[in-house]
Amino acid sequence: MKIKTLPTLGTNRRTFLSQTAGLAAVMAAGLPTLAKAQPAMQLNTSADGASFPEDFAWGAATAAYQVEGAAKEDGRKPSVWDTFSRIPGHIKNGDTGDVACDHYHRYEDDVKLMADLGIKHYRFSIAWPRIIPDGRGAVNEKGVDFYRRLTDTLLDHGITPHATLFHWDSPQALEDRYGSWRSREMAKDYAEYCNQTVKRLGDRITNWMTINEIFCFTYLGYGVNVAPPNAPGTIVKTRKELHQTVHHALLAHGLGCQAIRAATPKPAQVSLVVNFDAYIPVIETSENIEAAKKAFVAEEHNGTVLVPALTGKYNPDALGGAAPDIQPGDMETIAQPLDVLGYNVYTGSYVRAADNARGYELLPLPKEYPQMHMPWLNFIPESPYWGVRMISEALGKKDLPIYITENGCATPDDVTDKGEILDLSRIMYMRSYLRQAHRAISEGYPLKGYFHWSLLDNFEWTWGYTRRFGITHIDYATLSRTPKESFRWYQNVIRENRLL
Ligand code: FCB
Repeated sequence: MKIKTLPTLGTNRRTFLSQTAGLAAVMAAGLPTLAKAQPAMQLNTSADGASFPEDFAWGAATAAYQVEGAAKEDGRKPSVWDTFSRIPGHIKNGDTGDVACDHYHRYEDDVKLMADLGIKHYRFSIAWPRIIPDGRGAVNEKGVDFYRRLTDTLLDHGITPHATLFHWDSPQALEDRYGSWRSREMAKDYAEYCNQTVKRLGDRITNWMTINEIFCFTYLGYGVNVAPPNAPGTIVKTRKELHQTVHHALLAHGLGCQAIRAATPKPAQVSLVVNFDAYIPVIETSENIEAAKKAFVAEEHNGTVLVPALTGKYNPDALGGAAPDIQPGDMETIAQPLDVLGYNVYTGSYVRAADNARGYELLPLPKEYPQMHMPWLNFIPESPYWGVRMISEALGKKDLPIYITENGCATPDDVTDKGEILDLSRIMYMRSYLRQAHRAISEGYPLKGYFHWSLLDNFEWTWGYTRRFGITHIDYATLSRTPKESFRWYQNVIRENRLL
């Protein structure tokens, strides 16, 4: 069924889920046991900063629909976001990604900006509707050519491309044909798109990310008896139907991993990008750390996305009695070994031990708790540390390399009379979060890289252009790019390979 009512702009990612979900219960038996503590790595720390390992990968990230524009060019056909953003009330100010940052035409300038920033890694996404505009069938070589041009330019500047194959922009044709992620066919069509893309671009891209944030296009794209905030904006009747979309997305990831590995002409690294929830022991006692571990695997989002992707089993308590239909072999396909785990981290939740059936309680934040320029973005800098640590400690994956594939914040970013953007609160946010990322590395957890979200201000989904996440300011009237103060801060951090 299509949307009847309009979604509330700015629905908090977490509150939208809790509005529609029952509470997940304790971690089920049978999930992996706890990992041993990691050997600590020797890192230089000094009074004025913390140094990072020499091979630490500094990068920045964007996504196709949010930056490219050129929506109708060179054979691209609509994605569900093109359609969704045209329905009045969905996006602030009726904004769309038609032009966005016009990166499609200005990519050379943008790569120069990256080189100036000093990053050696760039994460972007490939638009399925450019490569296979009808979702399945003929490949549009002109669409592939754009990514050839982009990656050649990156490589010329010594920047390694990291390509996400799906960042929410499903071909509208597949929405019309079978309702996108509601159908199992989506996973097969996605795998074929991976095959065709990697065959063509695998000579120059060897870092592949299958899917970005399953949570955001399933839990937030399909609402149980309520209009969801994200595309395709479909109302479903039961939690089982919702979990079915998650299952199909996980299956697409697994089939995608297999397709990439079969098609790549060179050895490639394959990862899944998850915005899994971080649970932070409010006071770092052993009881609260145990409570945080329980929450990490038991809460609905982690228990139905991260846990099955890494272990091959859903947490039954997280599914809350609404398991999807699972065909024989699905769970093995879903839990393909990963070369890297991508972790998008923005915020987290404080937790403490409790004398209840779950063994923990999530603590509400007081009204005055600091928040960045986005209702869901609470300032919780311990998140990267606890998120990374829990992959080892709660899921036993202590050797799985992790990249922070997104981290950043929105700030209002007024331009001064001198034309500067003194985004000091973004610097405060970055410094605080990176300090905790550094803690994870110094304790021996395998955090290998950091991609800032985002290189550029861009189309922020339901918020349109009203929320700015970039370290480069975009004037949307002229599309001119201006590095913010945070750009200069990050540039110096990269140059010195330590926090400043
Ligand atoms: C993440 C998305 C990314 C961007 C940031 C702010 O959830 O992956 O596209 O919108 O949030």
